[in-house]
Amino acid sequence: MRTTAWNEAPIAILGSGNIGTAIARGLANHGGIDRAKIILTRRHREHLDDAVEEGFRAADNAEALAEAGAIIIAVGPGDLDALLFEIGPDLDEKKHTLISVVSGADIADIRSGLALPVPVARAMPNTAVALGESMTALAAETPHSPALATAQSIFDRVGKTLVIEEDLMTAATALCACGVAFFLRAIRAASQGGIEIGFHSEQAYLMASQTARGAASLLLSAAKHPEYEIDRVTTPRGCTIAGLNEMEHGGLSSAFIKGIVKSAVKAADLYRKKGELDAGISRKEN
Ligand SMILES: NC(=O)c1ccc[n+]([C@@H]2O[C@H](COP(=O)([O-])OP(=O)(O)OC[C@H]3O[C@@H](n4cnc5c(N)ncnc54)[C@H](OP(=O)(O)O)[C@@H]3O)[C@@H](O)[C@H]2O)c1
Repeated sequence: MRTTAWNEAPIAILGSGNIGTAIARGLANHGGIDRAKIILTRRHREHLDDAVEEGFRAADNAEALAEAGAIIIAVGPGDLDALLFEIGPDLDEKKHTLISVVSGADIADIRSGLALPVPVARAMPNTAVALGESMTALAAETPHSPALATAQSIFDRVGKTLVIEEDLMTAATALCACGVAFFLRAIRAASQGGIEIGFHSEQAYLMASQTARGAASLLLSAAKHPEYEIDRVTTPRGCTIAGLNEMEHGGLSSAFIKGIVKSAVKAADLYRKKGELDAGISRKEN
């Protein structure tokens, strides 16, 4: 029997780097959660000064666990085991729910680092979470897991969520978390084309970004296949089909598909190859 509903106690974000602080800002600015009820931790606490100025709370991991109910784990894959070892003694399965956004680490991996049967779910958001526009994939051990319900009620506040099988979480990492960078690069490329045909860069970025947002909105609002909308833009012998086919001759779709597959393969290895990654980093440092 749980003693506290997740939204009565503060939320803690352990490892508040890029994605951790993006989640915090999204929950505060778009998710209706009071900044004072979001506790952030990281090893170099001084890097949280800006967030504290904004009204978030900074603490160490033990302090955060003492108060929080929902615990979002947002450390890098190479730091996960050490974090679990550190927080293990302070965890309480009646009070805490763990939601890991760590790429490549399964719930079984997390469980193996815990002595208690604390509820665990995984979430894979992207940096648009800061604007309440994340696409967040969620997974848990069972569809009726209370941890999944907690994760969904948190991430529903900051964008769209989709519950998937856990073995698809690395694929979701590639498509959604890495995907932000892929679409941003596509917008940058479109802008560069725009500059070459006559626009100043700021005009080109605005025009390309808003056009990309409009294209996404067309799909999201009508739930139609992209080709349906493409057919409405491509007149026979017209300029759109000429441009589109030229891009395809250059490998547009193929490059996206290959990039997403490559990313998924890499994401699957991030946690399991953490020893090699750590060794690589220390080799660089030496
Ligand atoms: N970035 C994304 O778009 C994104 C999206 C979805 C999922 N993810 C996943 O989220 C995780 C974090 O990614 P990120 O890009 O946010 O990395 P990041 O910017 O490096 O943030 C990780 C943070 O964890 C902190 N940390 C490490 N060990 C800690 C500990 N024992 N206690 C408290 N804090 C600790 C680090 O603090 P210090 O820097 O102070 O040492 C750092 O601020 C990764 O597993 C990644 O795969 C990232």
